[in-house]
Amino acid sequence: MATYLLTGGCGFIGSHLAEALLARGDQVRVLDDLSTGKMENLRPGATLIRGDVSDAAAVRQAMADVDGCFHLAAIASVERGVRELLVTHRVNLSGTLAVFDAAARDRLPVVYASSAAAYGDAGPLPLEETTYPRPLSAYGADKLGCEQHARAAGQVHRLPTCGLRFFNVFGPRQDPKSPYSGVISIFCDRLSRGEGVDLYGDGEQTRDFIFVADVVAALLAAMDHASPEAPVFNVCTGQPTSVRMLAETVASLCDTPLEIRNRPARLGEIRHSLGSRGRAEASLGLGTPVGLRQGLAATLDWMRQNQAPAAPYPSSERTSMTMPTQSTAETPTISSAASGHPSLPSESGTAASTTWSAASDAASPAGTLGLIR
Ligand code: NAD
Ligand code: UD1
Repeated sequence: MATYLLTGGCGFIGSHLAEALLARGDQVRVLDDLSTGKMENLRPGATLIRGDVSDAAAVRQAMADVDGCFHLAAIASVERGVRELLVTHRVNLSGTLAVFDAAARDRLPVVYASSAAAYGDAGPLPLEETTYPRPLSAYGADKLGCEQHARAAGQVHRLPTCGLRFFNVFGPRQDPKSPYSGVISIFCDRLSRGEGVDLYGDGEQTRDFIFVADVVAALLAAMDHASPEAPVFNVCTGQPTSVRMLAETVASLCDTPLEIRNRPARLGEIRHSLGSRGRAEASLGLGTPVGLRQGLAATLDWMRQNQAPAAPYPSSERTSMTMPTQSTAETPTISSAASGHPSLPSESGTAASTTWSAASDAASPAGTLGLIR
């Protein structure tokens, strides 16, 4: 049994990773400022230190006596990085440096979230880890910066790290309620209510959408590959889907007509993003990824069970509610997620923990991937 610090553990991907670590008997300490994460995402059994990852003292304190760190805390929106450059830079790059600095004291292994956004408009497709990155956004540049600093920390301090370039991750618990949310969560939320969707640009831009259970598998495997050589792996499916095709697929799964509102293309956007799985398959031993339809069915299933009543969108009130700011000077506060904690309703309203049972599209019909309680 090991103890891990998990930054961003109240977020979408972090909550699934926490669940997997706890399920195998590890202890999980979460550092999160709850800016985009939610208290209800804190998994029963995990401990929360509420603090800012770019606050070096808070990170050092949170890192005490752990065996390793999964670093996921970040402002995950490319679009928000365009609008709030310095804030996202502080969290996404300085926050990662604070993690490396704290971990370097005891040479603790760090697995951290990089991004496909680091590639920018690099080519050819599919993108290999050896492709020379050419970020198009500040968010992508900062994620690439994390990788460069991981290498430097490996050379100077022998810090063992492993970086994962997640492509577009989706699944249950991805919050659809902010204008900065991931496209799948927004489309599933809107179309399951029978509402229309916004399409930025011509909709022919493509993404490599990967289900969250596959990302968790990669994170767990990566901890054994953290080394001072600072390896980096793609976490992707190798399957392209256009945003328009995505909208059509979700509409058909929701059995609703598709109403599209065309919007101008976003700044800093990648046109085509498609990864090669070769290196990750060979080194991390990852299995066949969950198919898009199957992952979408599971996401819609979860959304139907947890959907809040329709709120005006985008709503500034809602956005500010989910993005409270925390001063870096504030002392981090600690709380625990024990089963039955009054502020921790589980997704079904019970205190039961949740595990994923994933099988490939070919192995089982869409929709059989679901929550086992
Ligand atoms: P998320 O917003 O759901 O989770 C991020 C978590 O970090 C939240 O709980 C948030 O409260 C926390 N956080 C943000 N700023 C913080 C700060 N200053 N101090 C402490 N905690 C802070 O996002 P996610 O989709 O779960 O992303 C997790 C990681 O994966 C991020 O590093 C993101 O950049 C990366 N990533 C995500 C995707 C994707 O498609 N979702 C793709 C590539 C990379
Ligand atoms: C996403 C992740 C980012 C990650 C990157 C890796 C989020 C919020 N962003 O960025 O953390 O590093 O993948 O590849 O999870 N779109 C619409 N309509 C909408 C919303 C989006 O057409 O309502 C389009 C966007 O313009 C874009 C595509 O859908 O072309 C995907 O957008 P988004 O989900 O925000 O993800 P990325 O910008 O690719």
